[in-house]
Amino acid sequence: MHQFDLNNRTAIITGGAQGFGLDIAKRFLNSGVKTIIWDIDEKELKKATQELNNPNLSYNVVDVSNYKNVKETVDETTKSTNIDILINNAGITGSTSTLWDYDVEEWNKIIQINLMGTFNCCKCVVPNMIKNNYGRIINVASVAGKDGNAKASAYSSAKAGAIGLTKSLGKELADKNIAVNAVTPAGAKTRILDQMSKEHVARMLSKVPRGRFLEIEEFTSLICWLASEENSFSTAAVFDISGGRSTY
Ligand SMILES: NC(=O)c1ccc[n+]([C@@H]2O[C@H](COP(=O)([O-])OP(=O)(O)OC[C@H]3O[C@@H](n4cnc5c(N)ncnc54)[C@H](O)[C@@H]3O)[C@@H](O)[C@H]2O)c1
Repeated sequence: MHQFDLNNRTAIITGGAQGFGLDIAKRFLNSGVKTIIWDIDEKELKKATQELNNPNLSYNVVDVSNYKNVKETVDETTKSTNIDILINNAGITGSTSTLWDYDVEEWNKIIQINLMGTFNCCKCVVPNMIKNNYGRIINVASVAGKDGNAKASAYSSAKAGAIGLTKSLGKELADKNIAVNAVTPAGAKTRILDQMSKEHVARMLSKVPRGRFLEIEEFTSLICWLASEENSFSTAAVFDISGGRSTY
């Protein structure tokens, strides 16, 4: 496996118990990163930590949509370490429905986790990065945030919001050695696909010129470069990994 120069960095990966987040954790550990995975699912966190069995890996049970929970965890963590890398990856698609049929609470929950979760984590971690004049933040958005998917108005809006947040925050921090970027993946086979109807997933796949799902490892490669010191110029940007679906 290709290694990135991430040695002795400390990273928080939200939604790190499975899927994209867990794969990023594996690559980070392989590259010498002190890796802290956050997730709302304690059972999966314990399982992942036991399986990886690496002294550089630890976890926190955190609901990213809960500002107090995020703040307290960051305050506790920064007592003993700086946070060099933040991967805002926790997310849900929620159920799929036309906007006018959407359950209001469900719509709000999707926004709270995907968009407010990203805001909460950035708000709490950035002061530590400013203090150290070093940071790499990657916000996991989605091609849905660029194109807008039918029957996914909440998810598309939340991910578009995360893209806007990235562009603003990146500019606010551009005079420091802190990079803030977003990534926009197309569909990959993780547990998140189970939240949507089979027809919806088939429609997503039909739009991808590559004609296949994104492999999780392909996604992780992009994240690793963005999280490394080598990415010393790109910021406030959106990196597409949609297999040709998005043309901008
Ligand atoms: N897999 C895809 O097709 C795809 C495509 C585009 C974007 N994404 C994005 O990638 C990210 C990772 O998704 P994935 O495919 O690995 O899904 P996944 O369901 O495998 O993993 C998401 C993780 O986030 C956690 N999570 C959910 N709500 C949380 C909360 N409130 N606080 C903390 N953790 C929470 C879940 O418990 C889970 O472990 C998400 O932001 C998703 O929107 C995924």
